[in-house]
Amino acid sequence: MATPIFLIQFGLGTVGQALTEQVLATRESQARYGIDLRYVALADSDGALVSERALEDGVIQSASRFKQRGGRLAEHDLGYYQDNLKALVDTMGQPRTIVIDTTAAAPDTVFPAFELALSRGYALALANKKPLADAQARWDHLTAGGRIGYEATVGAGLPVISTLRYLLDTNDEVTKIEGAFSGTLGFLMGELECGTSFSASVREAKARGWTEPDPRDDLSGLDVARKALILARTLGATLELADVALTPLYPADFAALSLDEFMARLEELDPLLADQQRAVQERGAFLRYGASVKVGQETSSLVVGPLTVDSENPLAALRGPDNLISFHSARYSARPLVIRGPGAGAAVTASGLLGDILRLSQHL
Ligand SMILES: NC(=O)c1ccc[n+]([C@@H]2O[C@H](COP(=O)([O-])OP(=O)(O)OC[C@H]3O[C@@H](n4cnc5c(N)ncnc54)[C@H](OP(=O)(O)O)[C@@H]3O)[C@@H](O)[C@H]2O)c1
Repeated sequence: MATPIFLIQFGLGTVGQALTEQVLATRESQARYGIDLRYVALADSDGALVSERALEDGVIQSASRFKQRGGRLAEHDLGYYQDNLKALVDTMGQPRTIVIDTTAAAPDTVFPAFELALSRGYALALANKKPLADAQARWDHLTAGGRIGYEATVGAGLPVISTLRYLLDTNDEVTKIEGAFSGTLGFLMGELECGTSFSASVREAKARGWTEPDPRDDLSGLDVARKALILARTLGATLELADVALTPLYPADFAALSLDEFMARLEELDPLLADQQRAVQERGAFLRYGASVKVGQETSSLVVGPLTVDSENPLAALRGPDNLISFHSARYSARPLVIRGPGAGAAVTASGLLGDILRLSQHL
């Protein structure tokens, strides 16, 4: 008899919908794990669908389709208005519950719900980086009991966090993690290398929907900084987001511009980036936007920005939007352990979450 595991999911957007699909499509592997994953609550930003025993598969599918058409769960036939995730966990949680966060909500919005869940012995599976890149005290609280999975926060479905855990659990000494964690920035740096102007490639990426609506949300490097911080904290560092030496792809005075002004003045950035690219190329090196994470007993350093890498560096071979992460350690000292592949996309991100859910289910 399979053990029921109850799921409360925040968010039914791109990743959330893909996860519901994968949960419904993996009944056989769940049975092999001796579990039966049952959704008891699905929430979007102002509504929810709930059922104490389990939402039926047909209801989950219809909710997902409803969201794809732009609907709000509050207006679904079986939905209701809610804007209190903690209350949702309070009323729908029961022994053997996993709370899943597929939102990009602010830490203050989700943290009270997470705290309650952990105090009740539930587990957490997160695709949302923000609560993990918030204050160190919150990280400590969320990770203290080991009842959290956050594979999808770095590299989406790529096994980045699990590989790091395996290195640490087997007592390897990780000396450096280096990587490119943004498909959008990978595309832009690749275009720069091919001689396309920075402004033209930003405009193209924006037109194709590859950037956030305000491209500065990508160009700031903040999302990469959050991932670097999550890696550093997993390595045991006590650091805040403000400790990341972050270099955005635009100067500080461009931060205060309106979106329209920023887009209108984009061409002003071309000479700066072209000069950097030329200088690096003349040295026979490569310019990549990435992160370098070093955590030591005494000092740690987290650098995020344009990195100059030589031809030996695995990042040199990176082209286009793939993510690439290299782990340098005592055992992988001659050549690093490298993971490379698509680091975004609904299905791969959802599979990172599902892997966490299957693993966490074994310990509930
Ligand atoms: N997409 C990727 O390739 C990818 C890869 C790695 C990690 N991630 C991370 O995964 C998360 C989700 O990404 P996504 O692309 O699926 O975003 P999305 O399509 O915008 O979906 C976000 C969902 O969260 C819901 N939401 C927002 N605030 C909420 C709140 N306070 N309570 C409950 N639900 C709330 C939204 O509700 P409404 O529908 O009502 O707005 C929406 O359903 C993000 O943190 C992202 O950084 C995404």
